Amino acid sequence: MRLFSQCDEVREHIKFCKAKQETIALVPTMGHLHNGHTSLVYLAKSKATHVLVSIFVNPIQFNEINDYERYPRTLDSDLEILRTLNVDTVFIPKQNELYPRGTSLAAKIIIPELTDIFEGVYRPGHFDGVCTVVSKLFNIVSPHAAIFGQKDYQQLLVIQRLVEDLNYDIEVLSGDTIRETDGLAMSSRNSYLSASERDQAALIFKMLTNTKDQFSINHIEKLESTATCTLGKHGFKVEYFSIRDALNLQPISQATENIVVLTAVWLGNTRLIDNLLFPMT
Ligand code: PAJ
Repeated sequence: MRLFSQCDEVREHIKFCKAKQETIALVPTMGHLHNGHTSLVYLAKSKATHVLVSIFVNPIQFNEINDYERYPRTLDSDLEILRTLNVDTVFIPKQNELYPRGTSLAAKIIIPELTDIFEGVYRPGHFDGVCTVVSKLFNIVSPHAAIFGQKDYQQLLVIQRLVEDLNYDIEVLSGDTIRETDGLAMSSRNSYLSASERDQAALIFKMLTNTKDQFSINHIEKLESTATCTLGKHGFKVEYFSIRDALNLQPISQATENIVVLTAVWLGNTRLIDNLLFPMT
């Protein structure tokens, strides 16, 4: 496994691999790897001959400095996991490698509309930060494919829009959400939960599943408010619990083919997001 921390070096290395007819799949991460991340690596391996994982806790996608500072950083164990998976290349840039003029002077990529709703409301500027760093990684690595998780469903749609609008010749592939046995979506932030919060957190997936099972086009608002109320009664602070068209996160319409139920909640000091996709029948 080759490790790089400099843009020029990784660019050269990928150029060399491409000259040997390798196909490149990029898996961008912020580290503290879990089975959700490793499932994306397996998907990458099935789609390309060379897998590059990036690990970078991107400061400009955090709204709060505390959230950025306390984000778990576990590089040694992450590298151990990636070695076991036989990942070809790991890119671990330092902050000044990606933001040489500092973060406030960095050029930014802004995708309108789709980033103004849900996560965009509660985390202003978050997607500008995500799009900017992902764009940089695309330009440095120029992969044939890039892999993202459905766990961050709005992020996945935003990246698809980025690729379309900026004419990247990159195939965006999505991996299913990997869950704990009680249904909680794996997330680096789950490590913040206390033991009792961790038990409580299973209710999120339960409410998503209930909503899917009870879905009827005539009861959308009722289902949303019931789930919000139930989560509230169990100590969650709900930012949103919404049933939307999976294509564009707009309200369900006659044209809707697939549905996504999206939620963001606070449990104590931890913010968790999850979603569930299902076809309109
Ligand atoms: P991070 O939270 O580390 O996630 C990296 C990738 O893993 C994302 O595509 C995310 O959707 C996916 N992922 C997270 N939890 C998952 C789960 N339980 N099952 C399947 N996939 C899961 O998302 C980011 O980092 C950053 O925003 C990034 C794209 C790297 C840009 O900085």
